[in-house]
Amino acid sequence: MSSTETTILRELLTADDGFVSGSFLAERLSVSRVSIWSHMEKLRAAGFDFEARPRLGYRLKKTPTSLSPLFLQALLPSKWEQVPVHFHESIDSTNSEAERLLAGNSPTPFAVIARAQTRGRGRLGRQWFSADSGNLYLSLVFQPRLPPRRMQTFTLWMGVTICDFLNQNQNIPVQVKWPNDLLLDHKKLGGMLTEARVDSDRIRDLVFGLGLNVNGQPGNLPPDLKDTATSIAAGTGHPIGLNRFTATLLTRILDGYQDFTQDTHQETFRRLWTQYDALLGHPVTTLQGGTPIAGTARGIDDEGYLLLEQPDHSFQRVSAGDVTLKKPGHA
Ligand code: BTN
Repeated sequence: MSSTETTILRELLTADDGFVSGSFLAERLSVSRVSIWSHMEKLRAAGFDFEARPRLGYRLKKTPTSLSPLFLQALLPSKWEQVPVHFHESIDSTNSEAERLLAGNSPTPFAVIARAQTRGRGRLGRQWFSADSGNLYLSLVFQPRLPPRRMQTFTLWMGVTICDFLNQNQNIPVQVKWPNDLLLDHKKLGGMLTEARVDSDRIRDLVFGLGLNVNGQPGNLPPDLKDTATSIAAGTGHPIGLNRFTATLLTRILDGYQDFTQDTHQETFRRLWTQYDALLGHPVTTLQGGTPIAGTARGIDDEGYLLLEQPDHSFQRVSAGDVTLKKPGHA
């Protein structure tokens, strides 16, 4: 989805010395210079500012600090620039909006991002705290031509992909907790909710939802989350520029999706899971069909099951559910 403003931004972002002349932009977009000027005014109203120099043209002086759909779209690399980003100030749930867009036959892939959600959904029917506009509420929608069994490891792969991005690209020591949590300092930093429609022989579509606490303030958290949740800003002391962060993260997720569909990710998947697994080697408990199972976490198998080693060294495979890390000194 490339609006005129997005194209202007892209030119300004990629200009060698930062300046782009009005006449160049007018020619590039086949519009008049007056029209370029009015688009620049629209961009100013959207939180951008420019330095304008005679003969040289315009240079970006200021970009919006809060999430900007125009800026985000302009920051996407050319490989993914056609992926539409549907942006909302506030919406019930980006996953629900993604489902509505799918029902209206919106072409995939596409992204839905909101500054806040009124009915953010978590796993197992839980709510996802979504009132802090410093955080990220994102859904990406795909229609992979893959057999349904491939769904089993999709969220796990996305989890380590995002974890690797946060560690390597942003230098934030995040871990992944099977099956869908992202942890920082042993507290919940993010969660994933994948919702798919599956036919007998193939995945029809899938909505990958990610809630990531980026610049959220601990003071805004509801009392029941204060001790167990964190944000990047709270954990590192550094707030993050949401637009560049989100554009790079989106790129990483889209690249990761491509690797997943081409099945070129298996080796990396195994390596990254071992690298970022928050449970590895720890005693944990979980409920399977109402029955508690305890064991030492030994990673996952090829089908994405969590492996729990028993005292007799046999393995229990855990398919779904919440896992609790046993704290030393606690029963
Ligand atoms: C969990 O840990 O339980 C998963 C939380 C997933 C939350 C995200 S926020 C964006 C997307 N829209 C939703 O309603 N939920 C997901």
